[in-house]
Amino acid sequence: LSDALKTALEGYEWSTKLFHHVLKYTSDGKEGHNYLQKRGFEQSDIEQFQLGYSPNKDQFLSTFLQNKGFKLENLLEVGLLSSRDGNTFFDRFKGRVIFPIQNHQGKVVGFGGRAIEDGIEPKYLNSPDSKLFQKGKLLYNFYEARKHFQKQKEVVLFEGYADVIKAYQANVYHAVATLGTSLTKYQSNLLKRYVDRVVICFDGDQAGKDASYKTAEQLKEVGLDVLVANVPYQMDPDDFIDTYGPEKFQNQVLGSAESYIAFALNYLKKDYNLQAKHDQLAYIEKALDLVATVDHAVERDVYLKELEETFDLYRETLENEIIERRRINN
Ligand code: CTP
Ligand code: MN
Ligand code: MN
Ligand code: MN
Ligand code: MN
Repeated sequence: LSDALKTALEGYEWSTKLFHHVLKYTSDGKEGHNYLQKRGFEQSDIEQFQLGYSPNKDQFLSTFLQNKGFKLENLLEVGLLSSRDGNTFFDRFKGRVIFPIQNHQGKVVGFGGRAIEDGIEPKYLNSPDSKLFQKGKLLYNFYEARKHFQKQKEVVLFEGYADVIKAYQANVYHAVATLGTSLTKYQSNLLKRYVDRVVICFDGDQAGKDASYKTAEQLKEVGLDVLVANVPYQMDPDDFIDTYGPEKFQNQVLGSAESYIAFALNYLKKDYNLQAKHDQLAYIEKALDLVATVDHAVERDVYLKELEETFDLYRETLENEIIERRRINN
């Protein structure tokens, strides 16, 4: 580890402690604390996830770090501070709730800073990519979640920090999140080393569905089993847990997760006008391609039955198409 990186790590460690302390014990932290409370985050979440608050002051952190003996220019590149002229340094996350992001060894290497009022852009300000912090290589909460992978060989994959923390409240400990980007090949391979199965639990909006499909394909490609959870439209997992509680989240969202194929068969309908014969045929072709990739005969049977009924087709024709496709694939 270079001296610069060691300094950056120490900077993040001190900053994490300071912001956590501010949130818990000081009047500067009150507005952050109120915000978290209003959103249903509990004291135990603040502890478990080392949440903090960066006071709404220009040079609160920078003064603290300077007094600790840090050369502030060394903390610019890793995004703890900001500067216009390279001489005076300002608190980059001021007025934001801090979600510390640990690397896979448990060291804090970045922050996600949540605005506490509506309409402030960006909603989340994250540490910039640097030698220390690479969004495409990290998964939020991976260090903790790893301890729980062994039991089920499964991970639940969320979009955001809040989803992971609310899931933790719901006793879902084997949970990680991408950091607002789509899952990279690197992250897929990483998960493949630890688990057999990924349950994708993204937001219930169209963007979440699109990302679920892309992510599922990516995970299938590295040989993982994929399930897609059923998050209602216009909600995300954290809203769902707030509104309906942990049990319904376990049973209705995670418990009713469907296989990648079932999800894809449904999701892909959006690309076709199923009232038009020509499009209908194109969809059926696509659906048969997907079903043919399933190795379990019984599972194939379930999907074929649905196609048979939805489009009023002969079962024998469908089965022949599958046999044909599987012969070509193998
Ligand atoms: N994100 C980001 N920058 C933004 C918006 C989002 O980095 N301007 C990332 C964050 O990691 C966030 C995730 O993308 O957690 C998912 O985005 P979104 O669903 O919009 O946020 P939520 O996690 O639902 O945040 P909250 O519940 O606090 O509104
Ligand atoms: Mn603590
Ligand atoms: Mn979203
Ligand atoms: Mn969300
Ligand atoms: Mn949310």
